Amino acid sequence: MTDVVHDLIVIGAGPGGYVAAIRAAQLGLKTACIEKYPTLGGTCLNVGCIPSKALLDSSEHFDLARHGFAAHGIKATVELDLAEMMKRKDGVVRDLTRGIEGLFKKNGIERVTGTARIVSAGVVEVSGPDGVRTLQAKRILIATGSKPASLPGIAFDGRRIVHSTHALSLGEVPKKLIVIGAGAIGLELGSVWRRLGSEVLVLEYLDRIVPGSDVGTARLLQRALEKQGMKFRFGVSAASARVEGEEVVVDVAPAAGGEPEALRCDVLLVAVGRRPYTEGLGAAEAGVRMDTRGRIEVDAHWQSSVPGIYAIGDVIAGPMLAHKAEEEGVACVECMAGRPGHVEYGCVPGVVYTWPEMASVGLSEEDAKAAGREVVVGTFPFLANGRAKAMGERDGHVKIIADAKTDRILGAHIVGPRASDLIAELVLALEMGASAEDVARSFHAHPTLPEAVKEAALAVAGRAIHM
Ligand code: FAD
Ligand code: NAI
Repeated sequence: MTDVVHDLIVIGAGPGGYVAAIRAAQLGLKTACIEKYPTLGGTCLNVGCIPSKALLDSSEHFDLARHGFAAHGIKATVELDLAEMMKRKDGVVRDLTRGIEGLFKKNGIERVTGTARIVSAGVVEVSGPDGVRTLQAKRILIATGSKPASLPGIAFDGRRIVHSTHALSLGEVPKKLIVIGAGAIGLELGSVWRRLGSEVLVLEYLDRIVPGSDVGTARLLQRALEKQGMKFRFGVSAASARVEGEEVVVDVAPAAGGEPEALRCDVLLVAVGRRPYTEGLGAAEAGVRMDTRGRIEVDAHWQSSVPGIYAIGDVIAGPMLAHKAEEEGVACVECMAGRPGHVEYGCVPGVVYTWPEMASVGLSEEDAKAAGREVVVGTFPFLANGRAKAMGERDGHVKIIADAKTDRILGAHIVGPRASDLIAELVLALEMGASAEDVARSFHAHPTLPEAVKEAALAVAGRAIHM
């Protein structure tokens, strides 16, 4: 059956797709959104950002109660109820995904449940619980996201050899967890299970955690995580893994070559990145061009090589982040509606939600220097911040990189309590082309963590007050 012609069909209801659909409806476009899963919200709400943060918050409470309360003069006997913790996490996910259903209704977006296949520009076939249906639209927006990457020689079984989705729902705390990959997923989910009692060893191919981030800032985070008991081995790669009884045997070889060594654990978490998801979508068959990594190629208005077919989010190039997908969704449909949609790619913040958290925006010190920029760096440690002291937080710093001649902020890197919230001020500063002095001369309430941002901005001019 072929029915009404829509102005826009969005394929995928993750943060890229559902936000694009809402913005399109606000702009008066007759919009349908096709999602294969029974709930809306995509990876982010169902098996990504939200459940991981729910578990990070819960496990942080558990860890604080076990190890942090005593310093505040509180005595407590603590016991883990993992089933209840998982139930709470599932509840958070349920409430938020239902919230998007409500937003779709409010905005008059047609929700179509089923798997979409592009037949040609303007025509999409949907196979859903009620059979096959054909939809027509002036434009199609692909927002099908990504899936966990795997390693050759290591097959997921969902119980012992797992990816992030499985690691968000383990039925018991592994005695020993090996994580392959010291990126955001490895560190966040490694932290969750470490706090709940696992022995955690992270294996990383490169010589550092969070590749691509500011080196000195990442080193501070590594030290803080090591203090919490997380162990790291760098310059190694997992060649293969197999389940033997109730154990996983992982063959680990030096990245530079050499004899592999067998390591044993109860659960192996593979967190080596994600790959764009276009399987069964029909995009390539319709002529949509992909790059060598399977990402859909788009122009400055997020239009693919086929006129009328657009793409955003994890399925195109750039950091695989929910807020990047959202901004692209908004800007893409604004362009469709004749508005000047734009994404400032140099200002995308990145956050790792460990404790302490790590948050960055703009250039790292290394990247700024490699680009030939003459820079001045201001840093301020949380050890010297009154509020952090009152909270009992000692680890981390705020680091601001400014142009040596103009004082314009080029990048900012924070490891510390609530770095995820603190970075917002510096994202705005970077977007507005602010100087370090602009930040330094702004009021920052006392006593607060943001005062560390002000002090780092003062430190750019060599005049931090409390250091
Ligand atoms: P997705 O969220 O992947 O959504 C794509 C949707 O398309 C899916 O629902 C899928 O079912 C649907 N779909 C695919 N193919 C079809 C088809 N043919 N027909 C119909 N539907 C289809 N990012 C952050 O910014 N902050 C975080 O804290 C964070 N934490 C994360 C934690 C974990 C464990 C993981 C795995 C990821 C995390 N991310 C985080 C990354 C974030 O989830 C992604 O960047 C984001 O979800 C990408 O959004 P998207 O809309 O492009 O795709
Ligand atoms: P990642 O790309 O961030 O990190 C993967 C790590 O694995 C890298 O450090 C890489 O060097 C290492 N690696 C690759 N192959 C290896 C091998 N064979 N042996 C040892 N190490 C190896 O990928 P990750 O952590 O899986 O996350 C996927 C995506 O999800 C990322 O793009 C990330 O942005 C997003 N995400 C974001 C979060 C956030 O914003 N807080 C949280 C979780 C995920």
